[in-house]
Amino acid sequence: MAHLTLRKIRKSYGNLTILDDIDLDIPSGELVVFVGPSGCGKSTLLRSIAGLEEITSGTFHLDGEAMNDVPPAQRGISMVFQSYALYPHMTVYENMAFGMRIAGTAKPEIDRRVRQAAEILQLTAYLGRVPKALSGGQRQRVAIGRAIVRDPKVFLFDEPLSNLDAALRVATRIEIARLKEQMPNTTMIYVTHDQVEAMTLADRIVVLRDGRIEQIGTPMELYRKPANRFVAQFIGSPAMNILPAVAEGSRASPAIRVAGGAAPITLPSRPRPDGVASLGVRPEDLREATGEDAILEGRVEFIEQLGEVQLVHVQLGTDTGGRVVAKLPGDGEVRRGAPIRLAADPKRLHFFDAAGLSV
Ligand SMILES: Nc1ncnc2c1ncn2[C@@H]1O[C@H](COP(=O)(O)OP(=O)(O)OP(=O)(O)O)[C@@H](O)[C@H]1O
Ligand SMILES: [Mg+2]
Repeated sequence: MAHLTLRKIRKSYGNLTILDDIDLDIPSGELVVFVGPSGCGKSTLLRSIAGLEEITSGTFHLDGEAMNDVPPAQRGISMVFQSYALYPHMTVYENMAFGMRIAGTAKPEIDRRVRQAAEILQLTAYLGRVPKALSGGQRQRVAIGRAIVRDPKVFLFDEPLSNLDAALRVATRIEIARLKEQMPNTTMIYVTHDQVEAMTLADRIVVLRDGRIEQIGTPMELYRKPANRFVAQFIGSPAMNILPAVAEGSRASPAIRVAGGAAPITLPSRPRPDGVASLGVRPEDLREATGEDAILEGRVEFIEQLGEVQLVHVQLGTDTGGRVVAKLPGDGEVRRGAPIRLAADPKRLHFFDAAGLSV
């Protein structure tokens, strides 16, 4: 069991506040992903949980026990860093066994744990090798193995895959998903900049910004129902398009008009979003209009052809000088410089008020 409870966590350096008012509950066995812009405090929060960083105020409980004054080594928490410092002269086996040897663990127990971790991480064939004879992905798995053998209650990962190339990232990501299944009682927190890692690994995602939590939810909750513009644009890639908009029509037949947009968008199945200041539409929710359904008109500025899809950058023909990106099928007949009309399912539109909150 490993239930984490963070209450009003604050961390500051002098008068610089890095983390502010962090409240978070993570039930046993859950994998939570922290995302947010560079410098928002992800690593600081992780290091605070590990005990490598002293918090300024607030409380952190693990299974109901206050951790504030418990030294890092006694918390039952293991952390895997972005730069995995393996001992270069030791074999994979020795690297994984080292911490337990120092702690005076009995040899048969060390052997059992190392072999079990190697099995989970598919490193059994490499136990006799030194790190320089391994690929980057294998080295990172050894670093994870070193953390597993400690049999932690909580596993912390700080961007563990960011040094790997694209193919290795995918392979190691799948390894981590498998690891989670094999350690169902271990609570995991995973920091990443990678959208795919966040979406695929997380039970829940915590979006941080400037040291505060913006929203907590399952990947699909954040994708479908972002609490505000920041989360809306942070989750999903390419980012959601945002355009200034105003509500029109009556309560009975609500509509919305993008400033300078093609035609008012009728919203049959939802109440009129009063107080709306902007409209959000994801690139993947835009399609080429077939008839009178266009909501946006403009000219194709440039195209990024990705094969399966193309990212079509459109300069809108509005006085606002707005631009949108549409993710269209890769085999479509879109031409650079040509006019284009775009449509979207009204159910997939997002609305925000002047403060950026979802309405
Ligand atoms: N010892 C320190 N003294 C002062 N400020 C610090 C210290 N350590 C970190 N910071 C600041 O705290 C903020 C949060 O840093 P942190 O490393 O937690 O960010 P992060 O979200 O992990 O960013 P990244 O995605 O780039 O890894 C940054 O603005 C950083 O400059
Ligand atoms: Mg960091």
